[in-house]
Amino acid sequence: MATKRIGILTSGGDCPGLNAVIRGAVYAASKRNWEIIGFTDGYEGILSPVRYRVLDESSTSGIMHLGGTILGTTNRGRFVAKKMHGEKAKLDPSIIEEAKETLEGLGIEGLICIGGDGSLTTANELFENGIPTIGVPKTIDNDLRATAVTFGFDSAVACVVDSLDRLHTTARSHKRVMVLEVMGRYAGWIALHGGLAGGADIILIPEIPFEFEALSKFIDERETHGSTSTMVVVAEGACPKDGTYVSKSMDQKGEARLGGIGEQVAEYIADSTGKDTRSVVLGHLQRGGNPTALDRILGTRFGVAAVDLLAEGKYGSMVSYQNYLVGDVPMADAIRSIRLVEPDNQIVTTCREVGIHFGDE
Ligand code: F6P
Repeated sequence: MATKRIGILTSGGDCPGLNAVIRGAVYAASKRNWEIIGFTDGYEGILSPVRYRVLDESSTSGIMHLGGTILGTTNRGRFVAKKMHGEKAKLDPSIIEEAKETLEGLGIEGLICIGGDGSLTTANELFENGIPTIGVPKTIDNDLRATAVTFGFDSAVACVVDSLDRLHTTARSHKRVMVLEVMGRYAGWIALHGGLAGGADIILIPEIPFEFEALSKFIDERETHGSTSTMVVVAEGACPKDGTYVSKSMDQKGEARLGGIGEQVAEYIADSTGKDTRSVVLGHLQRGGNPTALDRILGTRFGVAAVDLLAEGKYGSMVSYQNYLVGDVPMADAIRSIRLVEPDNQIVTTCREVGIHFGDE
């Protein structure tokens, strides 16, 4: 007979390492003789028709290395708590009531919500309305405050680096400019880390607006010094000085679906330098596949820590990683605003020292 019953769900975009968190939480809960219920399809699972399954060690054994989430997820639906860039919408009170009834009806004494900025905003609102939630920070974008890193980021960066390794060889063979557009929404972390590790010559990020002319000037200069190929990494949220984000559509939350800046940059470079130029959009490949060792470890630690926080009754907290240690912070601190790259960030200055151009001078 279990001594306590808790719930867990994954919400928002999927991300490598989600299954490691689920497995970590299930194993830690089982050790305490708690029962753990996995709600499916994100927060939708706690609304009618309620969808869940009981998780145990045997049903979560062998999932740590798998990408995606065994519970399913969604960034659409009735719990959407975001509205335009930077704005947050309040949840419908009837939705909160329904969630409460589901959880009370099932005897859930604590709910672990694994998600990014939007999903943790929901978790915090549920907490403020009397539902005992704990947050676990997830996003490949690494744009959450109050944690040094989110799980999934390292795997996305590894994917960027692998892609750049492949693009380098073809760029050199054909003496081309290769432009790689990567994800990250309004933050440049993936482009910055991926670009540095993958040997990019130019990195364009939202936090450092660029000038088109500076790109061709830099590429022409490289050419005169004998560098016949150039690798450009462009964050999907990068924008030119006096310009704006490039997007093709809006999502359900009314937020722009970013994408297309890589193609614009490639076209400009081809026209202005006469260099053979190609662009590639890495897209959802960055979110798929197996998590790196680091994300498996971080995910497991986060899952275990979330159960510890429930045991301590620290509802409304989010698991956080600081100085190589997993601790906790109030969820409200993490969702106040997204974490952007400071233009004088040490990694930016390191990039500049090794000759990487940000298109800003
Ligand atoms: O937040 C993660 C992320 O992958 C962003 O980097 C990207 O802009 C967005 O989600 C894509 O969302 P969707 O899967 O809805 O296209």
